[in-house]
Amino acid sequence: MKLYCAKGYEQAGRITANILAAQIIMKPDSVLGLATGSTPVSAYEHLIRRYEAGDLDFSSVHSINLDEYRGLNPENDQSYRYFMNTHLFNHINIDKKNTFVPDGMEADAEKACQDYDEIIRSHGGIDLQLLGLGHNGHIGFNEPGDAFARTTHLVTLAESTVLANARFFASATDVPKQAYTMDIGSIMQARKILVMACGESKKEIIRKAFYGPITPQVPASVLQLHPDVTLVGDEAALI
Ligand code: F6R
Repeated sequence: MKLYCAKGYEQAGRITANILAAQIIMKPDSVLGLATGSTPVSAYEHLIRRYEAGDLDFSSVHSINLDEYRGLNPENDQSYRYFMNTHLFNHINIDKKNTFVPDGMEADAEKACQDYDEIIRSHGGIDLQLLGLGHNGHIGFNEPGDAFARTTHLVTLAESTVLANARFFASATDVPKQAYTMDIGSIMQARKILVMACGESKKEIIRKAFYGPITPQVPASVLQLHPDVTLVGDEAALI
């Protein structure tokens, strides 16, 4: 594993953006696996600045996001599609037709999941997968469980995840309780993995995930088996 320890969140975002930018420069038609949540926001801001400076071209990039709440439509400002549009896609020259987020409005879970697996498959998998880290070790919305999931699936969010995400909603009761998520198998098949995790609150789970036993009870621990993982954190999370 490659490890970058940034001074703080802002610098961690810059380093993460540098790695994403390098990927796009070296392979302009990269398939990027992207994440939402509060962690990648600064990385996306840096990418937008680099695009505005004329240093990056997203016109051939494809993106496949990790997850989406079930039941939220793309115009809902809490949906992950809305998040991606407002935090990144609306500000760069990516073709929105080349950006994919699970269809939260597809009530048929089997169809939603099979369609998404087909999107991942038809793109030849993911070149670089960006991940945040849940406090319980989830990646995407692959919550702690008895086995590592092998296909896109419908999850019932862990109570701790609902509480953690309540900060984005009026109250915890407003947080959708289910989501569609890319599976651990597809994440592990990404050619490169880039994890960004910042802040004191992520310190303990980083230790468990990257230096503890590999177990589906800590889904991110499976990343120890991936041959090309980069972890970008800040001092509060890493030291
Ligand atoms: C988001 C996602 C989640 C988050 C994780 C950390 O698409 O898949 O796994 O990365 O919950 O969230 P933050 O960054 O808000 O701490």
